[in-house]
Amino acid sequence: MSAIRYPELAPAGLKKIEWVREFMPVLSRIEQRFLAEKPFTGLRIAVSVHAEAKTAYLAMVLRSGGAEVFVTGCNPLSTKDDICAALDALGFSVFGWHGCTAQEYEDHLVSVLSCKPDIMLDDGGDLTQLLHGKYPHLAENLIAGCEETTTGIHRLRSRAREGALNFPMFLVNDAKCKTLFDNIHGTGQSTWDGIMYATNNMITAKTVVVAGYGHCGRGIAERAKGLGANVIITEIDPHCCLSAAMDGHRVMSMDEAAPLGDIFITATGCKNVITRKHMEQMKHNVILANAGHFDVEISKPDLESLAKRIEERKPFIRGYYMPDSRVLNLMADGRLVNIVAGNGHPAEIMDLSFSIQALTMEYAAKNREQLKEPLLHKVPAEIDDEVARLKLEAMGLGIDKLSKEQEAYLNLY
Ligand code: NAI
Repeated sequence: MSAIRYPELAPAGLKKIEWVREFMPVLSRIEQRFLAEKPFTGLRIAVSVHAEAKTAYLAMVLRSGGAEVFVTGCNPLSTKDDICAALDALGFSVFGWHGCTAQEYEDHLVSVLSCKPDIMLDDGGDLTQLLHGKYPHLAENLIAGCEETTTGIHRLRSRAREGALNFPMFLVNDAKCKTLFDNIHGTGQSTWDGIMYATNNMITAKTVVVAGYGHCGRGIAERAKGLGANVIITEIDPHCCLSAAMDGHRVMSMDEAAPLGDIFITATGCKNVITRKHMEQMKHNVILANAGHFDVEISKPDLESLAKRIEERKPFIRGYYMPDSRVLNLMADGRLVNIVAGNGHPAEIMDLSFSIQALTMEYAAKNREQLKEPLLHKVPAEIDDEVARLKLEAMGLGIDKLSKEQEAYLNLY
């Protein structure tokens, strides 16, 4: 049983899924093995990830492995109605529609959890939160969960520190094959995809302020530089500041950057990074965009209280008209600009992230007897290495191998 909005969009959604699977060769290879081995026979998997084409393909792969899969999104604005329709047409239980209210969003999360999943895939920690809060009984069959993003990992770590974690969770975001490619290159490319498509603005010669020089911010800044922008980085971590400076970017506080920027992009996982005091200093027609998980990095309450008029100017762009006649443009309602206004990460990148997810879930299914304690687990290094090797193979790239002599030499140290 599903809850979706536009079932007639299924053919368009199916075409999009067909397209992305062509560019996900590692996941396709895993699918073939899952079809033969059925590692998830008898298991139910609850998935809450951005409900778009690459996620749909992951759901198909998990079903090929014998699982019954229940899908919802992890953000009300990133859910694609054609993909939900396609998943429904393929017989999945799928809950969600683009632009659902906060209550509907929670209802959809509860709907997927109502299957009492054996394995859960979370992106940002909202499913995990519900299973620890209002609905602990829905976790009674849970072998383990997998967390997809940095913000979800922060929430898990703070829960574990307080001794308030009730079941094992795998920190999938922290696998090398995830962070090094998805967060850096995926977010780097797709953030600009979203901004350029929606604004139709020139990037070269613009001053781009990137808040946060972690994995995502680094990728966004690197692409901005490649597009000809002057890049300013704001940070709170002294090492990240130094690193940005040595990568050739200007570094300063947000207070200093506010009057200089043409385009502001937050990628911190923190809140209130851009607030009233910054907005008051900004130039006319600046673009404000967020790539962090939650819509709290650019203060929407501050924008609302400063503006005398608010108007949708263009798809994904809301104008806040200030009393002094400046307009500040907020993209994608302050939510993940790359997935709301753009196509999200390239399929080739999600090939890595979702292959890690699929193999980690298989690992959980196979090792359920060892997963009784409510602990945080790293993705096993063998899985991380295997996915990297498969990707290299798919890309036709060679890799050297240590000789016995070299191995012995390195083992001396
Ligand atoms: P990270 O931990 O590697 O980097 C975050 C950086 O922000 C750190 O260097 C930190 O020092 C800095 N920071 C924190 N508070 C700050 C503040 N108030 N001002 C300036 N800098 C500040 O995290 P990562 O992986 O880059 O993720 C960042 C956010 O992006 C998270 O919310 C994550 O969930 C999300 N994310 C979004 C993706 C997308 O598709 N848009 C993909 C992957 C992650």
